[in-house]
Amino acid sequence: MKGIILAGGAGTRLFPVTKVISKQILPLYDKPMIYYPLSALMLAGIREILLISTPRDIDLFKNLFSDGEWLGMRFEYAVQESPRGLADAFIVGRQFVGNGACALVLGDNVFYGRGFGAVLKKAASSVERYGGGMIFAYYVKDPSGFGVVEFDSAGRVLSIEEKPLVPKSRYIVPGLYFYDNAVLDIAKNVAVSVRGEIEITSVNNAYLEAGRLSVELLGRGMAWLDTGTHDGLLEAANFISTIQKRQGLYVACIEEIAYRNNWISVDQLLRLAAAHKTAYGDYLNFIAGEEAGDHFL
Ligand code: G1P
Repeated sequence: MKGIILAGGAGTRLFPVTKVISKQILPLYDKPMIYYPLSALMLAGIREILLISTPRDIDLFKNLFSDGEWLGMRFEYAVQESPRGLADAFIVGRQFVGNGACALVLGDNVFYGRGFGAVLKKAASSVERYGGGMIFAYYVKDPSGFGVVEFDSAGRVLSIEEKPLVPKSRYIVPGLYFYDNAVLDIAKNVAVSVRGEIEITSVNNAYLEAGRLSVELLGRGMAWLDTGTHDGLLEAANFISTIQKRQGLYVACIEEIAYRNNWISVDQLLRLAAAHKTAYGDYLNFIAGEEAGDHFL
């Protein structure tokens, strides 16, 4: 399975911080924000990534990840000329996706929780094996700014609505989606919404109507953090700092995940550690020096 990270948008809700720079490159505590959604794809076992960003910002991401070889991965880059909507990722990314399945993650979505790695691996393998689409539902206090899922009493999905004025539930769809190859044609045929975008919610509804959509609940204890406002960013940074300091285990350390996935060797990890003269580098050294069974993840 391949993966797309969409890191576009004008970031207007974070002005002036994002006046001249992409939101997804901003620090979330100790690492660029985009490390977090990238880590979700890596935990799903995805090694080939297409990063889509604006003409202004694409070079930042190229400088950050280059060809991805240092993570034992392969990165490609594409430009989205204007923010036409999330489903556009599958139009811009058509050639990259080719004939297989593909995951999409939004470059500002941050997930953290026990067992999430297993959830991701299951989503990837289920879509690869059985086809269809798989998305997630997450309970929030205020669902109105998101895609909202309506369930019947048996837990079956009845509808998905984008930013409804009157939400039918508190379950929203976070920005992480797994689809079979049909997504390429579905995205191409999606009609433009009233806000002038080709919505990922329309793609999800196409899968739903065809009876080919699974919606997995992300339960209590799972963190899906908001990075869309100044306060959200600060609170997310504090959350990451708290959990990292308490356990001494890092959230979204992409070098660690590459190493644990056996995509890079211990020598490569040590070389990466040497390039960071910070606590981050110390952490990479710690991971490289760990004995098997030092902790149970
Ligand atoms: C987008 C999607 C929405 C989803 C959200 C998750 O919203 O359209 O369905 O719930 O991402 O972050 P947007 O960022 O375009 O407002």
